[in-house]
Formats: sequence, C-alpha cells, structure tokens
Amino acid sequence: MRVSMTVNGKPDSVEIEPQVLLVDFIRETLRLTGTKVGCETGQCGTCTVQFNGRSVKSCLMLAIQADGGSVQTIEGVAQNGQLHVLQEGFWEMHGVQCGFCTPGMIMSLLDLLQHNANPDEDEIRSWLGGNLCRCTGYQSIVRAVQYVVEKTRETTLVEFVDAAGV
Ligand code: FES
Ligand code: FES
Repeated sequence: MRVSMTVNGKPDSVEIEPQVLLVDFIRETLRLTGTKVGCETGQCGTCTVQFNGRSVKSCLMLAIQADGGSVQTIEGVAQNGQLHVLQEGFWEMHGVQCGFCTPGMIMSLLDLLQHNANPDEDEIRSWLGGNLCRCTGYQSIVRAVQYVVEKTRETTLVEFVDAAGV
C-alpha cells in the first residue's frame, strides 16, 4: 500500500508492505540510518523520532500509522550546516561516548525543550527515563540540556537588552 508523509520537511510517498515498522521504513526504505534500532520493544529509546511534533518510539509504530503526518529524524535537526543548540550542548558537555543512544536522546529531549524551555534537573532526569545510555552515566547529557537552558536565557536577555536600547 502507498504511504505518504513529510520527512524532515520534504514530502515523500512510497509503496510499502502494511506490516513495516516506522523505524524500518525510516532506516531501510528512506536510508536515514541516524535513527537506531536497539530493543525493538519500546524500552531503550534509540529509535525515537518526532511524529507531528512529539517524540515517539518508532519501533512501536507501523509506517502506515504515520500516513499523512510529519516525521522528523536526527538528520533533520541541524539546519544549513549549523548544529542545533541541543546538538551543540551534547558536543560541549561531552554528552556522547559511543553515540548509539544519541540520536534518540536528542529527538526525545527536543520534545521536552519544545514544551518546557526551562526544565529543572529533576524534570530532565525524569524525562530521560525513556532513553537508555550505557556509556555516559547521564550526567553529561543532563548538562547538555542545562547548556541549552542557559544559552536560551542568555539569548533572551540579549534580545531584551537590544529591544530596550540599553
Ligand atoms: S528500539 Fe525502539 S525503544 Fe528500543
Ligand atoms: S553514548 Fe553510548 S549508549 Fe549512550
């Protein structure tokens, strides 16, 4: 059957088998291999992408369930060769070791930051409950999110000062 969706801002329409998982569609049909497959049972979060603006585990969805919707993968996060501030945070705070969990972490944490621009440490740690990392001990990932919060605060302050003409 034919499935149509927008992927990273570009419309796509492909003939697929109805039982294909969204994660397999993304990796094998679209060849967007930044999204990883870990447990395939909804536990590890490595397959996390955004669907219609919210993070979802793409191993728990059929591709046909995304028909007509909008999917964003890690490949669509950097814009015009510029890392997203959250990717910058992972880089600056050493939030990546082997990197296997990183795409899923970023897609999940973008959802947090889009809906709560100022999460405290408990909120960040609680949100990370759906994404497993074997390497970092999570501290550096928490710091990557705090980097974004701090950067956003600084940018807002600069914009406020500029607007006030101080
Ligand atoms: S592969 Fe989807 S949650 Fe682990
Ligand atoms: S950096 Fe290796 S699993 Fe997270």
